[in-house]
Amino acid sequence: MSNGNIKTIKQRSNDLTPDEPGEPAPSSLNRSIHEFDFNLICEYFSTVERQGPGSPEITLKALSFIDNLTDESRIADVGCGTGGQTMTLAKQAPGRITGLDLFPEFVQIFNRNAERLNFPDRVKGIVGSMDNLPFQKEELDLIWSEGSIYNIGFQRGLNEWREFLKTSGYIAVSEASWFTDERPAEINDFWMDAYPEIDTIPNKVAQMQEAGYIPVSTFILPENCWTEHFYAPQIAAQEKFLTKYAGNKTAAELISNQRHEMRLYDKYKSFYGYVFYIGKKI
Ligand SMILES: C[S@@+](CC[C@H](N)C(=O)[O-])C[C@H]1O[C@@H](n2cnc3c(N)ncnc32)[C@H](O)[C@@H]1O
Repeated sequence: MSNGNIKTIKQRSNDLTPDEPGEPAPSSLNRSIHEFDFNLICEYFSTVERQGPGSPEITLKALSFIDNLTDESRIADVGCGTGGQTMTLAKQAPGRITGLDLFPEFVQIFNRNAERLNFPDRVKGIVGSMDNLPFQKEELDLIWSEGSIYNIGFQRGLNEWREFLKTSGYIAVSEASWFTDERPAEINDFWMDAYPEIDTIPNKVAQMQEAGYIPVSTFILPENCWTEHFYAPQIAAQEKFLTKYAGNKTAAELISNQRHEMRLYDKYKSFYGYVFYIGKKI
């Protein structure tokens, strides 16, 4: 959901399945504790418009590189969250959009937003997982994914999602990337722990090409996508959340992680950020 939560989510979803074939699954007690954690994380991120860095301006900038859309187009927004970026897309792009997210709570909010904006026939949120997309081969004209492909991994996502795109269809994803070849140990260690697949921009572009796409455009998301659109709305949300869950250790830990992540961004933003990668299926 954001940098600090990547590990939490991954670790906890791994915790819900046996480590080795034949090993028993964790007890139902553990399961309910972990589900409670998931619910808390979802509740916290449901209260803000975006679950990752981005902005309407940047969604539209990325969209400006896509030239094949008509009223008949089929678009998927993978890891759509509550749909902040999807609604921006829907205002500008023709065609039908399916938003897909693992968390039913986010999808409910997504569908309420689509109805409120009068997109009920054109924009629909569904619950699903990005490692098992419910689309036909070569069904899609465009796959969109802001701040979400890390959940499956950049290379795996590019490779596996390609089959759902028509030839000459587009993929547009934003992904955490290094801006420099070297960086201070503190931020390097943070990311190696959270998402070791973070890489430099030239390496990510090469991966896109290897996966069978023509790299069409690559650009860095400006700082305000983090500060104004992602972190600032969380400040008030954090106070409310801590008041509601006063004394709850998991809630306190979640907010402390978010605040740590925010401080790291402020300190090391010249070394990393989100980058939009737009490719066209060959
Ligand atoms: C950082 S958030 C980005 C959300 C949204 N695209 C945005 O920019 O605000 C990552 C999203 O990926 C979703 N997610 C995590 N694992 C997923 C999976 N396996 N399949 C589908 N969605 C997943 C999370 O629920 C969350 O909404």
